[in-house]
Amino acid sequence: MSARIYILSLIAVLFISCSKDPTKNLSSPDGKIVLQFILHDGQPQYAVSFGDEKLILPSSLGLRFEDNPDWLTGLRLHNVTERSSDTSWAPVWGTDSLIRDHFNELQIELNRGNPRQKLLLIFRAYNDGIAFRYLMPAQPGLDEFQLSSEETAFRFSDNLSAWWIPQDFESYEHTYRHTPVSQIKAVNTPLTLQSKKGTVISIHEAALTDYAAMTLAKDEDDSLQLNCALVPWPDGIKVKGETSFRSPWRTIMIADNAARLPESHLIENLNEPNKIDDISWIKPMKYVGIWWGMHINKYTWHRGPFHGATTAHAKKYVDFASAHHIPGLLIEGWNVGWESWLSGKNVQNYTLPYKDFDLSYVVDYARSKGVNIIGHHESGGNVPQYESQMKAAFAFYKNLGIHAVKTGYAGKMYPQGQHHHGQWMVRHYRRVVEEAARNQIMLDVHEPIKPTGIRRTWPNMMTREGVRGMEYNAWSEGNPPEHTTILPFTRMLAGPLDYTPGIFNLKFDPKGKHRVYTTLAKQLALYVVLYSPLQMAADLPENYENRPAFKFIEDVPVNWDETRALSCKIGDYVSLARRSGKDWYLGVITDEHPRKLSLALSFLAKGKTYL
Ligand code: NOJ
Ligand code: CA
Repeated sequence: MSARIYILSLIAVLFISCSKDPTKNLSSPDGKIVLQFILHDGQPQYAVSFGDEKLILPSSLGLRFEDNPDWLTGLRLHNVTERSSDTSWAPVWGTDSLIRDHFNELQIELNRGNPRQKLLLIFRAYNDGIAFRYLMPAQPGLDEFQLSSEETAFRFSDNLSAWWIPQDFESYEHTYRHTPVSQIKAVNTPLTLQSKKGTVISIHEAALTDYAAMTLAKDEDDSLQLNCALVPWPDGIKVKGETSFRSPWRTIMIADNAARLPESHLIENLNEPNKIDDISWIKPMKYVGIWWGMHINKYTWHRGPFHGATTAHAKKYVDFASAHHIPGLLIEGWNVGWESWLSGKNVQNYTLPYKDFDLSYVVDYARSKGVNIIGHHESGGNVPQYESQMKAAFAFYKNLGIHAVKTGYAGKMYPQGQHHHGQWMVRHYRRVVEEAARNQIMLDVHEPIKPTGIRRTWPNMMTREGVRGMEYNAWSEGNPPEHTTILPFTRMLAGPLDYTPGIFNLKFDPKGKHRVYTTLAKQLALYVVLYSPLQMAADLPENYENRPAFKFIEDVPVNWDETRALSCKIGDYVSLARRSGKDWYLGVITDEHPRKLSLALSFLAKGKTYL
């Protein structure tokens, strides 16, 4: 899979430091970003600058153990190793067909003398940002451990302008606020900030596989400092682990211009290579669904006179998909148990169809028309009940020849006290990805843990929600027009999003209470701007019939060879160009204000006419 590999150099430097406050610098390959490691009075810190701009002032690092809170003090610098790497790899799908992974790395080994307790810090500097992680090697007296906190801090040099959603241990489904960083109490990541000079940074994490999610909370004493606040277990512990142990990467994307952010592959580069050998069944695709009808109250998930997932409706949707070359059809509400959803405790049977839905007939009929059914598991947050059926439920779909499943966790987490974004759930989400892969199933996860680049390692982890998506327009006050002009610089930096664009009937509510705050053209542009390898055409088929604009949705690719962001202003307008083969697609959106943009398209082939 990975193309050509060049290891530029490997330099190992070993020294015992005697000086007070030892420091060590690490630069990005182009030299613009400089990360400084500092051991201040036996405690590790880091600082980051970009050109002559100091972005992060010396900020603390470290892990705090529940049974040994002082472990972090009195650390000594034992060993420093440096290396550089410049490789390229080809993702199974994505926004660019070849990704360069070019960084300088600094490995710092700290210990406490006698007993020889060790903590390793690994820093990487890329041209598009920096990253660091903690490594606890196996060592005498430290096997199982519990973390009461992670001491990573982000001390900003100025009151940067920030785009953020509030800290929430269960959901990322919020609209964005735009305030000075000093007005933040606590946020979920990605958190994106901009300096007066225009430099943009975005803080997130990569390779979150067995750890609690990081949120950021304001420091009690310094209004320009945010501290890592991990999502807790019910007993208050943040992370339970065994050595040897690696934390997720803490990431800071850095660029001189907002347009560079959506082009970054920092998060994917910090994840391990693909673990799936046979990838023949992993295919990005567009899909329609028996879905929007439930959200606008035309249909129900549960059985009754308005049941959505009937054999008759499914046939109609298959016919539409087939006639319009849409390869996928999601069907929600086909399985027994939906009456219990959101009623306290969700109890569903993931393999038993309702009596008015003939699943094997529908799957065969769809196949005969070239349409792939997308299955659905709604756990409602009742994870033990879902896990008790999970293996059988994925095998059931596999036996039907189904290669894509949407999962969901909409509801209060059970058992009580666990959070959607805590370590217990991070482990669960991971088990689901691996079980799905064993059954050759691609995933679209709703109410997920945020993306952290796992898709590189498990390319069946196609897309996820973790965003305030289209459904909010159906039943809430709706998403403001600026929402989608912020997403490419915040949530989308983490990974693909199942926003479910493509509503054509904008004023669908006969009572006039709900609508989609958009134009038709903007709905089309979202197919280029918001990336998802499983991309929905969300409206009812009857609203697409005889609408010439639907041709664009039929034609637009879901997998790209190249992505370039053009003129962008966070929260105001976005213009992204993406190439598939020889064709370029241009997606441009604005907030509620009309504007004229002139875009530099100098990358297009000379002498050719583009439409
Ligand atoms: C919430 C999801 O976001 C939505 O897409 C789904 O239809 C419902 N849960 C039911 O599973
Ligand atoms: Ca949702």
